Amino acid sequence: MWVAADQGRVSVMDRGFLFGDGVYEVIPVYSRQPFRLEQHLARLQHSLDGIQLANPHGMKEWSGFVTQLVNEAEWEDQSIYIQVTRGPMAVRNHAFPKEVRPTSVIFAEAMTTPPASQREQGIAAVSAADIRWLRCDLKTTSLLANCLLRQMAVAAGCVETVLFRDGFLTEGSASSIFAIKDGVLLAPIKNHLMLPGITYDVVLELAAQHGLPHEVRDITEAETRTADELWMCSSTKEVLPIVLLDGAKVGIDGTPGPRFAQMYAWYQAFKATVMRAGP
Ligand code: PDD
Repeated sequence: MWVAADQGRVSVMDRGFLFGDGVYEVIPVYSRQPFRLEQHLARLQHSLDGIQLANPHGMKEWSGFVTQLVNEAEWEDQSIYIQVTRGPMAVRNHAFPKEVRPTSVIFAEAMTTPPASQREQGIAAVSAADIRWLRCDLKTTSLLANCLLRQMAVAAGCVETVLFRDGFLTEGSASSIFAIKDGVLLAPIKNHLMLPGITYDVVLELAAQHGLPHEVRDITEAETRTADELWMCSSTKEVLPIVLLDGAKVGIDGTPGPRFAQMYAWYQAFKATVMRAGP
């Protein structure tokens, strides 16, 4: 059933509302072409498996919903949000209901790229201890820790919070983080401590394709703080240079670095020729 966003209704007994018991996906759409829909739906399945919730729809069905929404929404470039919760319960109980009736919601928003100033001048970030749970590979709607962490950045007049756990870089509050050290692109290992980002994959693919040396490995906090360049990336922010971390300049002079300029150009070319072209 399709309704106007402000007409959609979910029970106050929904476990997504009471417990944050659900998962979600964000799919970028360029020129009405969903980007890597299959990979996003596979990650949705991974998240559902991780919370032991049967997928209420098959891949073909999800893909049909996405196509319909993409074509009916008013924008050429969109972000599609899929949310699936474990649905309503009769009485409040942490344990799963015997009969689960999942709630599925899908909606579109206009996709706007970050302002040019963020790319040209770079963005400021703060850092924080990664206080989230140990299944950050699941894209769950329990986003309170991410929200609190992002708010730390906003309160400090910054854009993102870079997270460290046990002395190692994990990711941002809502983005993947990369470092450049001595001309090598460093990427944290995809594991249970970070979301397997689809944009992260694109950045590594572009690095491989264009011959930018890269290593996927544990990155220490010290390496992050002394990196020549730091980048954040996500489906909605594309790739952005972090030029200040906790008030300290990144690299020599705290301006976007040459590798960022290269990656940004590769990303824009990829967007124009691949993402906008569709499958
Ligand atoms: N967030 N890590 C976290 C914690 C994220 O929330 C996101 C994306 C990413 C990047 O993933 P991807 O490249 O697949 O977008 C990494 C989305 C945009 C959000 O929650 O709105």
